Amino acid sequence: MPIAMAGRIPQSFIDELLARADIVEIINARVPLKKTGRNFVARCPFHDEKTPSFSVSPNKQFYYCFGCGVSGSAIGFLMEYDHLTFPEAIETLAAHYGLTVPRENGAGREKDEAERQRLQALYRVNQEAAVFYARQLRETGCSAVEYLRRRGVDGKIARRYGVGYAPPEWEALCRRYDAQLLGEAGLAIAKEGRGHYDRFRDRIMFPIRNRRGQVLGFGGRALGEQGPKYLNTPETPVFHKGREVYGLYEMLQVGGRPSRILVVEGYMDVIALAQQGIPYAVATLGTAATSDHVRLLFHHAGELVFCFDGDAAGRKAARRALEAVLPQLQAGRKVTFLWLPEGEDPDSLVRKEGARAFEERVRQAEPLSSYFFRGLSEDLDLSQMEDRAALLKQARPLLQRLPEGAFRQMMQARLKELAGSREVETRTERNESIQRLPRLRQPRVEERVAALLVHHPRAFACLPDGFREAAKIGRHGELLAQLVLTLEMTPEINSTVLLEKFQANPHLSHLQELLSQEAFQSIEDPQRELLDAVTALNRKIDKLRLKALLGKADREGLTQEEKAELLTLMGGSQGSPLLVDIQ
Ligand code: UTP
Ligand code: MN
Repeated sequence: MPIAMAGRIPQSFIDELLARADIVEIINARVPLKKTGRNFVARCPFHDEKTPSFSVSPNKQFYYCFGCGVSGSAIGFLMEYDHLTFPEAIETLAAHYGLTVPRENGAGREKDEAERQRLQALYRVNQEAAVFYARQLRETGCSAVEYLRRRGVDGKIARRYGVGYAPPEWEALCRRYDAQLLGEAGLAIAKEGRGHYDRFRDRIMFPIRNRRGQVLGFGGRALGEQGPKYLNTPETPVFHKGREVYGLYEMLQVGGRPSRILVVEGYMDVIALAQQGIPYAVATLGTAATSDHVRLLFHHAGELVFCFDGDAAGRKAARRALEAVLPQLQAGRKVTFLWLPEGEDPDSLVRKEGARAFEERVRQAEPLSSYFFRGLSEDLDLSQMEDRAALLKQARPLLQRLPEGAFRQMMQARLKELAGSREVETRTERNESIQRLPRLRQPRVEERVAALLVHHPRAFACLPDGFREAAKIGRHGELLAQLVLTLEMTPEINSTVLLEKFQANPHLSHLQELLSQEAFQSIEDPQRELLDAVTALNRKIDKLRLKALLGKADREGLTQEEKAELLTLMGGSQGSPLLVDIQ
């Protein structure tokens, strides 16, 4: 493909291209599709799965994965699947249909071209430096190789991560490459008088690459005790530490879409985890996780597991991560927190106890819903009205940041429960719940799920993650919502203890009633039954939600998030708005 010309692509051309393109044809050429009803399906190319949940709608010219939530237009698909930039995807699509991409010319064009060349030069000099450092590690880096070996890193992993060594010289790079450019790339520092000297000396070098493999900058670890332990490339036109993570490219190279991504703090944590067979960790670059980080990572997996020390610094970092993720917790996404034992980091821990034990910790990481309330009420005494008010004050604005939807509602319900004045609350809620009973009766399937859970609480743990998420964030009765949250926190519970937990709960009598229905007790395969009931429940919820969204679309229009949600419910009611959204 010829190098894309600079200059803006007119929106009218993009519109025309999307109108002409057939997403089914474009995707089918890369991922064979099967027709089912109105749509086409396949196993999702962006995450591992056994049964197809990737769906392409010819009517809406959109793809959507029910499993991992990715969605987009033909352009979006090409960007993701072929790892292209937006203009590259347009070039590709246009070429397929024999069209030439027009560019807006005029004043902007030359400037764009100069800017593009400048960035290219920075990528190039970073790349050259990475090659140089890697060669130095092989040729002269005895002490560095020895150091890596001591830390358990072998040649294969060092190569995968492009680890190198900056020799202990002032001008190792500056002698060889354009010093001015090295300066702009953050690899060299300008001297007072004239000239430059190398920023990184006698350090192990970790290249930081974007998801397309371009080197943006470096982290450099001191071999000894002197100087700062890590030096990083400063902000440059190509490197923004608040936007990039370490290890993403290498993770993607290993292949497949991970179901979850571990977010750790250090370069060596990423590398040690990969060395031990856990290749799906990335590190923020010496900063707290930002919303840009979170957006980037959710692009590649539906679940993020943040690893933190349990100490004060770790708790503070966790709080920042929590704030960054809240607005992005759409349905189908999940965030958990893995608390490391004192004095350990992922590197030391995984080397001590091995990958299996570490992955067990990952599986048992604390769900965000639990951390949220536990974290916020840590220093509070919720038997005191003052402290409950303080909890409300802190939690409310945070919950406002969650996307609208069932998860937010459930979190708000939980807050109300924790912070509410118990006597008053119980009485009014009991009244409400009595009034609600007829409504709960009608939709049998919610009750069926609740009854199965009360009778066979442990079957809950056997639901696959996707189902559990769905059950938790479903839009069903409050009883079921609270049941699911309880089970999520105490998976080993039995019916008696479960009932005990609901002693002060307005739904207690309803729960008892369900428990008295003996038919549920003698069920042969409760897991199977539960799975079926949850599936039916999801279908029903989707139907109701679809109706509500279409209604709202007609009345007042939808937000971006609601449009995306509508896609999950695809199946094509006529008359819904055409959803063409390229980013
Ligand atoms: P840590 O101090 O926890 O280091 O910093 P580490 O990753 O465990 O390193 P080892 O195991 O001693 O080699 C975590 C991260 O914080 C940033 C780096 O990104 C580092 O990986 N950091 C730390 C700095 O940027 N500068 C520093 O001086 C220290
Ligand atoms: Mn460490």
